[in-house]
Amino acid sequence: KISLKANIGKYEFNNVMLNAAGIRCATTDELTKVLNSEAGGCVTKSATPEPREGNESPRMKATPLGCINSMGLPNHGLDYYLKFAEENQGKDGKQVLLSIAGLTVDQNLEMLHKIQESSFNGLVELNLSCPNIKGESQIAYDFEAVRDILTKTFKFFTKDLGIKLPPYFDLHQFDQIADVLNDFPIAYVNSINSIGNGLIVNPETESVVIKPKGGFGGLGGDYVKPTALANVRALRLRLKPEIAIIGTGGIKSGRDVFEHVLCGANVVQIGTAFGFEDVKIFSRISKELSEIMAEKGYSSLDDFRGKLKTL
Ligand code: DOR
Repeated sequence: KISLKANIGKYEFNNVMLNAAGIRCATTDELTKVLNSEAGGCVTKSATPEPREGNESPRMKATPLGCINSMGLPNHGLDYYLKFAEENQGKDGKQVLLSIAGLTVDQNLEMLHKIQESSFNGLVELNLSCPNIKGESQIAYDFEAVRDILTKTFKFFTKDLGIKLPPYFDLHQFDQIADVLNDFPIAYVNSINSIGNGLIVNPETESVVIKPKGGFGGLGGDYVKPTALANVRALRLRLKPEIAIIGTGGIKSGRDVFEHVLCGANVVQIGTAFGFEDVKIFSRISKELSEIMAEKGYSSLDDFRGKLKTL
């Protein structure tokens, strides 16, 4: 009698968990495996207009507390993921979120035009927060640039759009991004992408652990959970209620999902820990979350979503 169902507007998820963009979702085989798991759907690897090799290897390194990556958006190009999304959206009640990450505003608009003209009728996740493209900054740290791209997008785009955000660290940044996002008919925000440009050092070799950008890369895993929770909470307190929130960052147990939902997450995504554990993580965490809810007498996520108490 415990339900882990969730929704973003009219889109229904039979489980609150999805993979996070980038993790085990670059090929149709990987994506199909997620769709066939207990997850409520899948997110496709952020696409660029053309296929990309990404950065030089080694470009990802696991640590006891998480991982660092500077993949540089290796992907098969928009056409590949759009075809998969068109074919699989809504099948067996599963949602396919189509992630895109153009390297420029024009690339994003070009992809959004193509999606607008396609038969895909699910959620599109516009990634404005990739930290790993050499020479480019994370668009969503520039609030006027976000306003500009959304203004241009909603002149023609009538499908349902979510925005993947980077972590913010100053309360004024939350005010500023919410002021921009609240001016547009956005379906959801997804917080957070990796914490950009961290540095992991190996004291034995006296070296960095990944090759691109002198070792700087996005952090995921245990390092980021408190930051992710803060972003979900701070945005839920500021965004208009029509904008849903996907909580991403540091989830590896039922307790972590519980905390994200308490902070206001409608749906959650799992990156680093899904990379470590593969699709069995979705059934393990479903069980753990159900047990926590049973102990507390909750039967649905609505019973506690956003109800975090302050002291
Ligand atoms: O941590 C990340 N790595 N975030 C992104 O948005 C892109 C990805 C990559 O491919 O570098």
